Amino acid sequence: MKTENTVWHDQHISKTQRAELKQQKPCLLWYTGLSGSGKSTIANAVDALLFQRGCHTYLLDGDNVRHGLNGDLGFSDNDRVENIRRISEVAKLFTDAGLIVSTAFISPFAADRAMAAEKLAAGEFIEVYIDTPISVCEQRDPKGLYKKARAGEIKDFTGIDSAYDVPEAPAIHVKTAELSVLECAQQIVDYLLEYGFVK
Ligand code: PPS
Repeated sequence: MKTENTVWHDQHISKTQRAELKQQKPCLLWYTGLSGSGKSTIANAVDALLFQRGCHTYLLDGDNVRHGLNGDLGFSDNDRVENIRRISEVAKLFTDAGLIVSTAFISPFAADRAMAAEKLAAGEFIEVYIDTPISVCEQRDPKGLYKKARAGEIKDFTGIDSAYDVPEAPAIHVKTAELSVLECAQQIVDYLLEYGFVK
């Protein structure tokens, strides 16, 4: 718990200095979308394209983070809020280190995505809406979770009996049902190039 005896220390090396070493502008690509929408697949493809360009990146991925840092959290509304709060704090640290960070979490609540955005400096938070109709997600059902949710074996499943707030004005709107994975990834890299995050 933070007390009055906990004092913030500024660092001597700034985020800008760290990022300049890499010839990039730090930012946070915040992927949001339903389960099975393609968040991880596209985030990984973008990460690979950025790596090829010599960028220094890091990807925080839903299932993996829930194995470690957030292994104590489930899928109640409160746990999802805490999940996103911790992730946004970690993502901020990586961004402070000068990296181009990607987070791939359902992050279903608009208020939590806004809270994450507020932690970052102006212009650093890039909301990426992986827009895949639930019918398509359900047809793909890569982990068989929709089938279980429909059968009542999983409760609080996003899009079925737990809410998903559709982003109202995402910086990048990716329609996966109309594009290949590579085309989706390129759309995101093009955005980063256009706004000078990468060269
Ligand atoms: S959240 O809502 O942002 O806290 O969720 P996230 O941390 O991204 O975790 C989503 C992955 O957990 C699996 N899973 C569920 N998703 C949604 N609802 C319920 N009840 C649930 N139970 C398990 C699922 O594999 C999600 O992975 P993705 O990659 O999104 O398909």
